[in-house]
Amino acid sequence: MDKKVTVIGAGNVGATAAQRLAEKELCDVVLIDIVEGVPQGKALDLAEAAPIEKHDAHLTGSNSYEASAGSDIVIITAGIPRKPGMSRDDLIGVNAGIVKNVSQQVAKYSPNAIIIIVSNPLDAMCHVAYEASGFPKNRVIGMAGVLDSARFRAFISMELNVSVENTHAFVLGGHGDTMVPLPRYSTVAGIPITELMSKERIDALVKRTASGGAEIVSLLKTGSAYYAPASAAVEMAESILKDKKKILPCAVLLQGEYGFQDLFIGVPVKLGAKGVEEIIEIKLLDEEKAALKKSAAAVEELKGVLKKLA
Ligand code: NAI
Ligand code: 2OP
Repeated sequence: MDKKVTVIGAGNVGATAAQRLAEKELCDVVLIDIVEGVPQGKALDLAEAAPIEKHDAHLTGSNSYEASAGSDIVIITAGIPRKPGMSRDDLIGVNAGIVKNVSQQVAKYSPNAIIIIVSNPLDAMCHVAYEASGFPKNRVIGMAGVLDSARFRAFISMELNVSVENTHAFVLGGHGDTMVPLPRYSTVAGIPITELMSKERIDALVKRTASGGAEIVSLLKTGSAYYAPASAAVEMAESILKDKKKILPCAVLLQGEYGFQDLFIGVPVKLGAKGVEEIIEIKLLDEEKAALKKSAAAVEELKGVLKKLA
């Protein structure tokens, strides 16, 4: 393949993302982890599936960043996931150190890469990666909105018994309890869901979306979601690798947009070969603006925690 994507962290999200990247034949894939043998074993296992899955993507596993050199995209999933009773924010102490170290290695070995952050707490980890890599803001992008919107879309499809392909949804804000699903901008075959469902049902789906991560954690008990998160990260990578210019909700550094300064938070952006090619400012109602402000305040609070950790 002429493109190369490195996935750091060969755990649940990382290995699943590697599988999807290879099976879609988007690029060669390098898996990196600190645990000896795990990235090598998973890469080999995936490579041995290739003849059956009919793809020619090369998969390599390594404990060394040299293998990642010259990557077009690096997806960072390294870190610990939450367990029942934990919030994403409880992970900040451990994951900030991991993401800092990983981002420095990415900058050293793949200075032109676009970073997609997955590690939690997502918006705070974007700040860590941005500072540690020294990359421009268009090349540091957080994955959360695509996942949260996919959850909302899945629930809309279940509720109305329509194809998921007909659904479209936007979830903005930070990746936490304060995320902001936008029913007005969520549609089925172009029809806003506000015309298709009662307010009570929409409120119920919005609530389920906001606690979608916790719902999976409470079922799995030993970790958090990974199939949908991996799909979400790969949709972002695909838009970049193929220069598709998809409009997707992603965590990006705002410098004045939506009234926020120096803050990573989820908003609609255009993703293409240059990474973030445009931040789309959609019109929000007063209550939607207030919800986004509350979500931004939660991310600001985590920025404060990061300062104390530094
Ligand atoms: P996991 O525990 O299955 O995998 C994490 C992997 O990272 C492990 O294999 C571990 O050995 C590796 N790792 C730890 N420190 C490392 C380092 N310094 N360098 C390289 N690798 C290192 O966890 P999972 O389920 O894959 O989740 C990964 C992260 O992604 C978690 O922080 C989780 O909360 C987050 N996440 C975020 C989502 C989002 O929407 N942004 C969705 C799903 C997960
Ligand atoms: C999720 O929303 C763990 O943040 C992850 O599933």
